[in-house]
Amino acid sequence: MSSRSLRHFGGIVVAALPAGCRGVQSALAPAGTQAGRIATTWWLFFWITAVVFVLVIGFVGAALWRSRSDRRDVPDADPAAERRLGTGVGIAVALTVAILFVLLVASFLTGRRLAALARPSALTIQVTGHQWWWEVQYVDPLPANRFITANEIHVPVGRPVVLDLASADVIHSFWVPNLHGKRDLIPGYTTAFWIQADRPGVYRGQCAEFCGTEHALMAFEVVAEPEDVFDQWLAHQRQPAAEPGTEAERRGRDVFVSTTCVQCHAIRGTKAAASFGPDLTHLASRRSLAAATLPNTRGNLAGWIADPQSIKPGNHMPPNGLPPEDLQALLSYLQSLK
Ligand code: CUA
Repeated sequence: MSSRSLRHFGGIVVAALPAGCRGVQSALAPAGTQAGRIATTWWLFFWITAVVFVLVIGFVGAALWRSRSDRRDVPDADPAAERRLGTGVGIAVALTVAILFVLLVASFLTGRRLAALARPSALTIQVTGHQWWWEVQYVDPLPANRFITANEIHVPVGRPVVLDLASADVIHSFWVPNLHGKRDLIPGYTTAFWIQADRPGVYRGQCAEFCGTEHALMAFEVVAEPEDVFDQWLAHQRQPAAEPGTEAERRGRDVFVSTTCVQCHAIRGTKAAASFGPDLTHLASRRSLAAATLPNTRGNLAGWIADPQSIKPGNHMPPNGLPPEDLQALLSYLQSLK
């Protein structure tokens, strides 16, 4: 590596460090109880290993300097110097063992504390990983109150949430760095994963296990909001889809239920009830499209419907060659699904 590229690399590291300490997808900007514990352990490891690194480099430098300035032939062994060296090595070994033990205990205690969030007031959400999107089902003892949405998880601030994680196809991994560490989604096996957001915000999550072509575009967002705002959102999401209010929206609904859309998607309140693709009942209320790949705008939605393969190659949605008037009507309808 030339000195110029070395400087360039150093510049990137220095710039990336503070950037990694903030942001909506950072384990070093904890917004939840679990993430806070993980970040504390991370900083403990960071500072201890940083001090060890500086000490080791210091001693190596001192040894090199001494060997350069002292070029005489090796004198006869000096028993006192040998003893001093032996003691030094013994102290270094003891310190190494002690430091490793401290890190081991810290890591073990963090693991135990991470598992201690379970409380009966918890909200239960089932999250199922699909190639390459997230199905999100809000569980309720009353079946009429259950509903399914996609790629966006709303949680109330300050309340524990238990996520029942499962996969519909291959192994995925659920990771919202601001709230918790990673947890794998295994086909045929449900795991409970506890999170709690301590401050409101929108935090980005990402699949963290390679799961096929579009693994990198399998993202989602967690919206943490105050309890009353969350309750309003919950009540609204439980409602079936809004009835079309205009002629264009009515035509758009007819297009939806009479073309291939209906074979994969559901819109509660219509005859569309398939579960192969994301539920679209309140599509317009969501912030993004295609698993947090695009902002949810009319233009992006048009591009996605017409040619999803150019945006996310390999995904399971086919292109739709709708006549322009039908596409515009469909867009109007989908955008009315607040
Ligand atoms: Cu799902 Cu990577």
